[in-house]
Amino acid sequence: MAQKLVVGNWKLNGSLAANEALFGAIGAVAGVDAAVCVPFPYLAQAASSLRGLALGAQTVSEFQTGAYTGEVSAEMLAELGCRYVIVGHSERRSLFGEDDAAVGRKAAAALRAGLAPIVCVGESLAEREAGRALDVVGRQLDAVSAVIGASALARVVVAYEPVWAIGTGRAASVDEAQVVHAGIRGWLAGRGAAAARVLYGGSVKADNAAALFATPGIDGGLIGGASLAARDFMAICRAAASGA
Ligand code: PGA
Repeated sequence: MAQKLVVGNWKLNGSLAANEALFGAIGAVAGVDAAVCVPFPYLAQAASSLRGLALGAQTVSEFQTGAYTGEVSAEMLAELGCRYVIVGHSERRSLFGEDDAAVGRKAAAALRAGLAPIVCVGESLAEREAGRALDVVGRQLDAVSAVIGASALARVVVAYEPVWAIGTGRAASVDEAQVVHAGIRGWLAGRGAAAARVLYGGSVKADNAAALFATPGIDGGLIGGASLAARDFMAICRAAASGA
């Protein structure tokens, strides 16, 4: 079985000085793949200071070049050393109007440049309470597949992030996560992409990581708040190493 993957999502946090301290305190853990997705302005700093962790960004333009003020292309991210880019995070969907089709186009842009898109999917609380979690996730995945084609799905990392668990301190229970992960795995397997990794994200902390990573179908985690504290992030990486 592949090593687990732990990805830090810094969101809109950091400063040159704070980053330097954090980069100095995190490092590779044997038996786990780890990466951090930092804000664009800090990619160069991260590329020179990170030891043993891969680099990623938090969003990407669907466009490659041209008159698109403010956009950052996947090719630029690759040139700066990125291996991953998060696409379709729920904050980008809800706050910045990214719809399913746009998420698909961003995933395609990432693949075009040789990056692995970390495609975030997940239901809102209302959708969960209506029993629609699997439908929502399936719709979001279908939209990506429609743009990139099923043959590219194995190069994608899927992150299941229930919206109600993000930043709330209320992670999905092992049982709740397992049901959706099994659904995502079935969806991938049905399209010849069983090799794709499926991460869980949403209030993963040092004290719940081991149980989540021991859950069948969970190949690692996408970590928000806890990725900003070196001790917590390293503890989560160690939990992933021992849960592999
Ligand atoms: P959280 O965020 O770990 O702070 O809940 C996860 C994410 O948004 O990727």
